[in-house]
Amino acid sequence: MTEQTKFKPVRKAVFPVAGLGTRFLPATKAIPKEMLPIIDRPLIQYAVDEAREAGIDQLIFVTGRGKTAIVEHFDTAYELEDTMRGRDKSLDVLEPTRIQPGNLVTVRQQVPLGLGHAIWCARAIIGDEPFAIFLPDELMIGTPGCMKQMVEAYNETGGNLISVLEVPHEEVSSYGVIDPGQVLDGFGGSLTEVKGLVEKPRLEDAPSNLIISGRYILQPEVMRVLENQGKGAGGEVQLTDAMAKMIGTQPFHAVTFGGKRYDCGSKTGFVEATLALALERPDMADDVRAMARRLLGL
Ligand code: UTP
Repeated sequence: MTEQTKFKPVRKAVFPVAGLGTRFLPATKAIPKEMLPIIDRPLIQYAVDEAREAGIDQLIFVTGRGKTAIVEHFDTAYELEDTMRGRDKSLDVLEPTRIQPGNLVTVRQQVPLGLGHAIWCARAIIGDEPFAIFLPDELMIGTPGCMKQMVEAYNETGGNLISVLEVPHEEVSSYGVIDPGQVLDGFGGSLTEVKGLVEKPRLEDAPSNLIISGRYILQPEVMRVLENQGKGAGGEVQLTDAMAKMIGTQPFHAVTFGGKRYDCGSKTGFVEATLALALERPDMADDVRAMARRLLGL
């Protein structure tokens, strides 16, 4: 245990990347969705960077058929590096792809039976430690990063945490929504007790407009809940159902992320993320702004 925390530290992160990515077909027929780039970095790279910023360096990828490119992305590309060196090109650009030997583990989800099932596939690697989950198609941009903010909250509360975002009330039916309890003092209004979780509620039944976004810190007991859990909505083993069962047995809180979230699992979200990030980059912003004006006839 480190000095600053009363609880077992979060050192492991699970990245479920075994989904089929059907919304991006045919692009994702042979390329994993998580390797689609926002400008010049694949989605999985943004998620791994966010994990490291939060001090998490043991990375567990739950992969499936056709996902080997994700693992190769984090491997040493000897020929490429040798050629680049020979041409006097800097290798700095590859730095984020380097992983400490032994810190990347893959487990296989042979059939994509749902997010909950994908997480359960990592149970032997998780053991009895708390762990983080990143859904790489949800791109979270902010300072500090979403997981860093969550780990800081975890060090105070322990238990389980999910990140949430406020959306217009009329949009809640597309998401998992929390039933909020008390807002905790000392976190600038960003830490809320979770009394319940509802998946895709009707507008009139929605307990709040705080939707679950793709970052979690969970206790290992969730694996036992998942073990005994049948299929839920959409015929899939749902993580939300398992988390809902944990509420009341362990502390459960929501962190309202102060930054921006882009749903890169949808095409418009993907385009929005690309544009937004390009407009933030000093090497591109002016050209992209001029291009957007031209396209919009402004
Ligand atoms: P999504 O709901 O976005 O599903 O999964 P998907 O298959 O990736 O994409 P679409 O909807 O068909 O376009 C959310 C996350 O959970 C992972 C996905 O890889 C993604 O990171 N996942 C989902 C699994 O690893 N296994 C599953 O069985 C389902």
